[in-house]
Amino acid sequence: MNVGKSNAVAQVTPEMRQRVQELRQLLVSASYAYYVLDNPTMPDAVYDKLYRELQDLEMQHPELITPESPTQRVGEKPASKFTSVQHNIPLYSLENAFNIEEFTKWQERWQRSAPKLEGFEYVCELKIDGNALALTYEDGVLTRGATRGDGVTGEDITQNVRTIRSIPLQLNVEKPPAVVEVRGEAFLPLEVFEQINEEREAAGEQLFANPRNAAAGTLRQLDSRIVAKRRLDFFGYTLHIPGKDDSDVARTQWEALEMLKMFGFRVNPNRKLCASLEDVRDYYNYWDTERRNLPYMTDGVVVKLNSFTLQEELGFTQKFPKWAIALKYPAEEAPTRVDDIKINVGRTGALTPLAHLHPVQLAGTTVQRATLHNSDRIAQLDIRIGDTVIVRKAGEIIPEVVRVLTELRPEGTQPFQMPSCCPVCEQPVVRPVDEAVTRCINASCPAILKAAVTHWASRNALDINGLGEKIVQQLVDQGVVHSVADLYNLTPEQLASMERMGKKSAEKLVGAIANSKTQPWARVLYGLGIRHVGSVNAQTLTQQFPTVEQLQRATAAQIEGVYGIGPEIAQSVSQWFQVPANQALITRLREADLQLAAQVKSTTAAKSQPLSGQTFVITGTLPTLKRDETKELIEKAGGKVTNSVSSKTNYLVVGEDAGSKLEKAQALGITQLSEAQLLELLED
Ligand code: IVH
Repeated sequence: MNVGKSNAVAQVTPEMRQRVQELRQLLVSASYAYYVLDNPTMPDAVYDKLYRELQDLEMQHPELITPESPTQRVGEKPASKFTSVQHNIPLYSLENAFNIEEFTKWQERWQRSAPKLEGFEYVCELKIDGNALALTYEDGVLTRGATRGDGVTGEDITQNVRTIRSIPLQLNVEKPPAVVEVRGEAFLPLEVFEQINEEREAAGEQLFANPRNAAAGTLRQLDSRIVAKRRLDFFGYTLHIPGKDDSDVARTQWEALEMLKMFGFRVNPNRKLCASLEDVRDYYNYWDTERRNLPYMTDGVVVKLNSFTLQEELGFTQKFPKWAIALKYPAEEAPTRVDDIKINVGRTGALTPLAHLHPVQLAGTTVQRATLHNSDRIAQLDIRIGDTVIVRKAGEIIPEVVRVLTELRPEGTQPFQMPSCCPVCEQPVVRPVDEAVTRCINASCPAILKAAVTHWASRNALDINGLGEKIVQQLVDQGVVHSVADLYNLTPEQLASMERMGKKSAEKLVGAIANSKTQPWARVLYGLGIRHVGSVNAQTLTQQFPTVEQLQRATAAQIEGVYGIGPEIAQSVSQWFQVPANQALITRLREADLQLAAQVKSTTAAKSQPLSGQTFVITGTLPTLKRDETKELIEKAGGKVTNSVSSKTNYLVVGEDAGSKLEKAQALGITQLSEAQLLELLED
């Protein structure tokens, strides 16, 4: 629990207790609307303000902190290991069917063992590709969150589970049963998964193969503060109340899901009651294509008999319930031949082996390349040029080789060996003993420079349209660009002399490069490609160090003091700024007029701010915002705040006890805004 340092002098008054209660209720219901219902009801600025008020009250009076307070979701100091937990009711896994024919056979099987059956219904749910969790609530309060483990013994990861916003810390019922067990799937939204991999790439670390692995890795993180940053999510799907028959709690799975919703859980909305095999088939076929539009991964559908009486009658096998089955989508895998193994040298100098494949159709796209990750992985799978291999592509993920069909191996193949020199600059490579990655450490290696320039131009960095790999390659190979700073001296003539570059596109590119000077400091920092600094870390750092000078002066210890920044990142940033060549680069970027401070200098950027050109006057006392905070919010959005109402005023922000300004504004017909309306406007 986060107990702030106590500097309590004042007594806790009944008013304070009541305010704390009130704040918690407001925050919990806003958070429920946002994370569970996907339907925000409170502007972020108001949420943050109320949150801070609660945090301050708890900080001053730690005795007011309770485990279910919304402030208790930010993670705690790292655990040294997780303890084992025994599941009172085992977490069963599911039998698989891979097509409707197999499903039909399963249906015939269970129907034979329930001969008295008349009508029946299935509940079809999406099979979320994540990790099962078992959550225990005592007297309505979350007391334990555990992984599935082997189904009987799991790990206690309560600290991490508490950081998942869609898991209620307290059940939303007045008289909760003494104990409630909820099960469901924790998962990483695809967007977060991509972001994590981007960070890992920035750190030169091995990428997670899929969101499930990334979620599993996150759930087993010993530092729950890191988990809190990862935005895991959760869908509930079963409810047990020990001491009661499941059918006393709800009579059907459908009712149980409704009850979970009532308790405050997120329940997947794409469930359906199906009364026949045809309905199940339609549901399965519909989601086969539609699942590609979901923001999370699904690998099939789960079909469950709806009636709990029928479920009890059928019971379980050693491993599975007899009343449910996972109807999976065929894995997106295909066999093909490895024509070659080439080495790619990345921005951090990491040598990544890449299989060049005989083109193969997979998940609707032609796949010609697959990552082989690193030499350990190649050795482990013993992938050789000429081999027939199985490649897999899941959703948005880079295809990978998962298996070699050694029985099809031609004669005379050789085990693959990682080169001892960089294939681009031919300098010796290194492989630290405790790492799986082999690296080129030549700072002027053209491959590293090309990757650095491409990264600088990429969408989340300086976003320079038209500066793709092909043109970067020529610029570096012809010795025109030695560093990203050189981009800002390029002339249209120089660019027009490059292959496949006309006069028009050269001019356009010079314009795009010049435009990138308005990109904010956080993007510049990300663009520098410092190891471990992905776009999220760059945001965090620039909030604490609003200018490059401040970051440059900071010691590793000071950088590590920033919430969410670990020692490895801090070391990496501090070391980067100590390198003279990097200092020279910053000087050149400053001369080129890039944004090295948090404020937006350019007028074109200011014009695109939502309130630019609008003049505001504030009168009276607003319910939650102080006068200077309101002013700051408006100004940040590009608006202007003046003291007196005139015909030039666009809006009057009105609070309680408004004075003569209100009268004047009314006389002039000026639009009035409440605090809530102002915040809405800012949100827009
Ligand atoms: S029901 C006894 N429902 O799939 C009932 N499981 O392959 C067992 N899963 O371990 C689970 N979505 O982690 C159920 N809507 C869903 C699910 C689901 C994903 C996972 C779960 C389970 C695995 C079995």
